[in-house]
This record gives sequence, C-alpha cells and structure tokens, in this order.
Amino acid sequence: MNYIEVRHNFKRYHSGETEILANNNVSFSIEKGELAIILGASGAGKSTMLNILGGMDTNTSGDVIIDGKNIANYNKRQLTAYRRNDIGFVFQFYNLIQNLTAKENVELASEIVSDSLDPVQTLIDVGLKNRINNFPAGLSGGEQQRVAIARAVAKNPKILLCDEPTGALDYQTGKSVLQIIANMSRNNGATVVIVTHNSALAPIADRVIHFHDGQVTKIEHNAHPENIANIKW
Ligand SMILES: Nc1ncnc2c1ncn2[C@@H]1O[C@H](COP(=O)(O)OP(=O)(O)OP(=O)(O)O)[C@@H](O)[C@H]1O
Ligand SMILES: [Mg+2]
Repeated sequence: MNYIEVRHNFKRYHSGETEILANNNVSFSIEKGELAIILGASGAGKSTMLNILGGMDTNTSGDVIIDGKNIANYNKRQLTAYRRNDIGFVFQFYNLIQNLTAKENVELASEIVSDSLDPVQTLIDVGLKNRINNFPAGLSGGEQQRVAIARAVAKNPKILLCDEPTGALDYQTGKSVLQIIANMSRNNGATVVIVTHNSALAPIADRVIHFHDGQVTKIEHNAHPENIANIKW
C-alpha cells in the first residue's frame, strides 16, 4: 500500500518580478517501510519537496497524501501534530539549538514522543560518544550533522526525512551514518526518504525518484537494493 502519495504537487516562489516553480507537477508514491532516495542536482527542488512532505512548508497546489490523509489540506495545528508525532527530520543545515548540548538537542526531540530511542545510545551510534555534552559551537560541521541525524532517529519516527544527511561527512563516517538511517527502514519499519545529489547512493534504495528542474524525470525500483558496504563514491 502507498504510504506516501504525492499527486500534481506545485510549489511557486515569487522573488521580485520573477516566479520560480520549485516543484512543477510532481507525482510519485512510496510504500510503507521503504527506503526511497530523491536524487537531483542543486536547485532541482528536492528540499522544497522534502519540506512539504515533512509538514515544514505548504504547497501551492496538489495532493500530499500520508497514510490516507491529505496533509495539503491540514491547518497549522494539524501540521504541528503531524510533525511532532510522525516525522523525524534531518535538515540540510542541521538547525541545532545553539544553547543546548548535543544530548539536550536529541532529548528535546525524543521527549515529545512515546516510543523514542535512548538519546545517549543514539549519539553513541552516530559516533559521538565523546561529544555528548558539547554545545554545537564546539562541534565540527560533520559532528553537528551527526547530532542532527541522532535527533531525528531518536524519535523513532514513522517517517524519517533526511536532507543531504552525509553532505558534511567523510567517506567512512558517511557510510556508517547512512547505515543507521537505512536500518530505520530495514529494522524499525520506518518509511525513509533521503535527499541527495550523489547518484552513487542510488543503489541502496528501494526506489529512486529523479528530480530535474522541479520535475520528476524518472522513477526506478531496485528489487535487490545494494548493501551500503558495497557502494563507493
Ligand atoms: N524561499 C524561497 N524563495 C524563493 N525561491 C526559493 C525558495 N526556496 C527555494 N527556492 C528556489 O527553488 C528552487 C529549488 O530549491 P530547493 O532548495 O528545493 O533545491 P534543492 O534541490 O534542494 O537544491 P540543493 O541541492 O542545492 O539543496 C531553487 O531555484 C531555489 O532558488
Ligand atoms: Mg536542498
């Protein structure tokens, strides 16, 4: 059954005189528990789509059906409840709270849901055992990215949305973090969407949705997704 179904999604931005069609008639679906990748070049409209899926932004027109409910029709209150209860979101630019430690940033997210994972263990899993009590300003970019991933994963969300989750990470750290994200689909039953411009990641997904200039150009299915250990970039 389709858990996520996007139909004729449009997102228009106006900057001065010009109009930008960031999402131009986007349609695709993702099944429950799948690992999907949205792949495309810079400016293709990937973050725009992910923000709409996560209830972080609203579309201009079209249907965004999540578990049978059209969140495109939700009011602010409904969207807040949806984000809080169903979504784990890894932001492209981390969005950590600067005056909270790594642990406190993760706890802030995990404490608002009932079946969360242990914040400290999740930070250990992303390789931050020795950074648990550091503030974001005292962390490298890659370490901040891993706190952001731990924060989303620790919610044990129904839907895990990750915007360029390995963008700031070296090869080995990127692979281990990707494995943690993939395990949320493989072991915890979450529906996972990863946004990336890196086509080398595509083989690990069940479904690859190609974006170009605000449109979906191709959708691929991998009957036998590749192990993360076997991919190279
Ligand atoms: N708030 C905004 N106001 C105006 N234009 C915007 C806004 N947000 C995004 N855009 C435009 O919409 C288009 C798609 O942006 P989006 O951030 O979705 O791309 P992306 O695929 O995530 O790119 P990247 O890989 O660089 O992160 C771009 O042309 C961008 O400039
Ligand atoms: Mg983006």
